[in-house]
Amino acid sequence: MMVGVSDWSLPARPVIGILHPGAMGAALGSALKARAGAVIWADAGRSQATSKRAELADLIAVPDVRELARRAHVVISICPPGAAREVAEQVAHAVAGLDRTPLYVDANAVSPATVASIGGLFPDGAVVDGAVIGPPAWEAGTTVLWLSGPRATTVEALFAGTPFATRVLGAELGTASALKACFALQSKALPAIWLALDEAARTLGVDGPLREELARTGVDYPAELGAVAARAKEKGWRWVAEMEEAADALAAAGVPDGFSRAAAEMYRRA
Ligand SMILES: NC(=O)c1ccc[n+]([C@@H]2O[C@H](COP(=O)([O-])OP(=O)(O)OC[C@H]3O[C@@H](n4cnc5c(N)ncnc54)[C@H](OP(=O)(O)O)[C@@H]3O)[C@@H](O)[C@H]2O)c1
Repeated sequence: MMVGVSDWSLPARPVIGILHPGAMGAALGSALKARAGAVIWADAGRSQATSKRAELADLIAVPDVRELARRAHVVISICPPGAAREVAEQVAHAVAGLDRTPLYVDANAVSPATVASIGGLFPDGAVVDGAVIGPPAWEAGTTVLWLSGPRATTVEALFAGTPFATRVLGAELGTASALKACFALQSKALPAIWLALDEAARTLGVDGPLREELARTGVDYPAELGAVAARAKEKGWRWVAEMEEAADALAAAGVPDGFSRAAAEMYRRA
């Protein structure tokens, strides 16, 4: 479904819609408050935790995604990667037939192909590809929002002076997500090897000797395993889709994608 054409100029104080105020969405929304006329979020279907985060970040609730999409000049999608396409479809559906389309920033950890498919839901130039590297930023110096796409510099300007540093990677949609997919190989696929190693050693009955050998060779196995297990317990459900998306990015580049697919499986089990 393609929605109507748009006037791309933003008002001096645009309305920003956040879908949805999770840990990262609340920080992004809060960062933009000083620059925006209003930062809004969509209440329907969201949990108490999201509602509480939005309240603490002083964001304004609107009833649902339809209302948000119709009011916002800029929509930022920041949700579990597996939901990125569905959220984009909801927004595209909400603004279909209107003479104004919001600028749509997909800031999720998805593959360049998924970003391209989201781009196909909106008029040319309406979508900006974003990739967040670093924790939810409440102060400067921790986190970079990488951007690409024809309107990337418009989004860069919005974030000027906020705790989110921005870097523009060019005018091509998908480049920011390609960077995130490569980064995720190191941040999420690599640590998953500890989960596989631990499960294999236990199943094969060699976990004791393996611990001994790793300790003897200077590897802090309990610390490595403990760190990834704790992170996987909290966020592993979300990383399944992120690893599958990263694998799709690698496969499209002709690089073996098994590392990321195996990591997705380990996080699924965790
Ligand atoms: N947190 C980080 O350190 C970090 C760092 C870099 C990038 N990111 C990226 O930021 C995005 C969000 O991460 P987060 O840490 O903010 O996650 P989060 O705290 O779990 O929040 C996710 C938000 O999305 C909503 N949501 C859950 N399931 C959904 C669905 N099926 N459809 C639409 N919305 C849904 C949640 O609402 P409910 O409360 O109702 O479930 C919540 O508001 C991810 O793409 C992640 O890759 C996060």
